[in-house]
Amino acid sequence: MTQPLDYQCGFRNHFASEALPGALPEGQNSPQRCAYGLYAEQVTGSAFTAPRSHNLRAWLYRIRPSVAQSAYRPLDEIGFATAPLARPAADPNQMRWDPAPLPDGATDFVDGLTTIAVNGDAGAQTGCGVHVYAFNQDMTERFFYNADGEMLFVPQLGTLHLRTEFGDLAVGNGEIAVIPRGIKFQVRLADGSKAARGYICENYASPLELPGLGPIGANGLANPRDFLSPVAAYEDISGDFELVAKFSGRLWAAQLDHSPLNVVAWHGNYAPYKYDLAHFNTINTVSFDHPDPSIFTVLTSPSDTAGMANIDFVIFPPRWMVADKTFRPPYFHRNLMSEFMGLIHGEYDAKADGFLPGGASLHNCMSPHGPDASTFEKASNADLKPQYQGATLAFMFESRYVFQPTEQALAADFRQRDYVDVWQGLDSHFDPTRR
Ligand SMILES: [Fe+2]
Repeated sequence: MTQPLDYQCGFRNHFASEALPGALPEGQNSPQRCAYGLYAEQVTGSAFTAPRSHNLRAWLYRIRPSVAQSAYRPLDEIGFATAPLARPAADPNQMRWDPAPLPDGATDFVDGLTTIAVNGDAGAQTGCGVHVYAFNQDMTERFFYNADGEMLFVPQLGTLHLRTEFGDLAVGNGEIAVIPRGIKFQVRLADGSKAARGYICENYASPLELPGLGPIGANGLANPRDFLSPVAAYEDISGDFELVAKFSGRLWAAQLDHSPLNVVAWHGNYAPYKYDLAHFNTINTVSFDHPDPSIFTVLTSPSDTAGMANIDFVIFPPRWMVADKTFRPPYFHRNLMSEFMGLIHGEYDAKADGFLPGGASLHNCMSPHGPDASTFEKASNADLKPQYQGATLAFMFESRYVFQPTEQALAADFRQRDYVDVWQGLDSHFDPTRR
């Protein structure tokens, strides 16, 4: 990928894009005969009868319809796991992992996925899977789609070139991308990257959306105009291609004699998108106390219970810290919601060390956590002048459902088995004679 890509701006806009003039039919979706001999195909991301505000669909005008492929055959299991696990092993212990090692041998995106934790039930369309990817090879004859959920990419190392049915997205450190459920794509390395590593939230439930802004008003947090969707791009090539599908917790493969990235034109509001987290308009206190992290919500997947997200995608971005008379790092806490965290770059303000870019932590329902002893000491005695916290970008996948770590994540060499020790040294300072 050498040319900058073209994008369309907006969040879930009703986009229209054609790589050949007149490829989109005028005034209807499925004409008797499509221009250029194309086939019309609809893909829906919601039930037909979903309310208009949540109704998601796209019409694709393609060289061959998606049914022009072989039967599916099951593939051998790889590092991908899906909820519910056969042997759930939810654990109240706080957990932390170093960055997953990059592979030694040639490994593509699909083979380079490792599931860290899952929750809910993919078949019931609740919960999510949390994965890390580490790979060093482009997908070339291989394509992928996920019927179990949409995929939120959070790259930490390397730039991804996501080639999708709808067109191309380039996504690097500090950006995110979402590939909707069922959309076919291929992952390649871009911008000279030799390898890539990052995180994925596989959302089994309601598609991610922008959170309500409440008293914040009309602007702030992630603004819709900063979301980018691809423009139509197609390839008309023959060959021996494999389409890998994640369906009902297993991987399957079908053969095709042509590339499935053969959509010449499309329109609709169900399309991949990317977002540069640097555009996040961060809201923070200008008086006192540390706000709850919900103030940093970028995207949310609501559940059926108001205010209890299936998943919130929350970031801890560069920001000014000005709170007066305040312990500024995150407070000690125990939450109903379960928290998976990762670090995109820089340092996180609640941990002195051990939480590395590409690493991860898991704090399940009601498991206590917070600043380590040295951070507590430092922040309790800090001079509270305005301070710019610039070199940091962490994130959280926060869910109402308890995360079940996978056996491979529990057994991984890169899990820190002494994580709980960071809170040793939080000694009693209690003195009833000193107020
Ligand atoms: Fe937390």
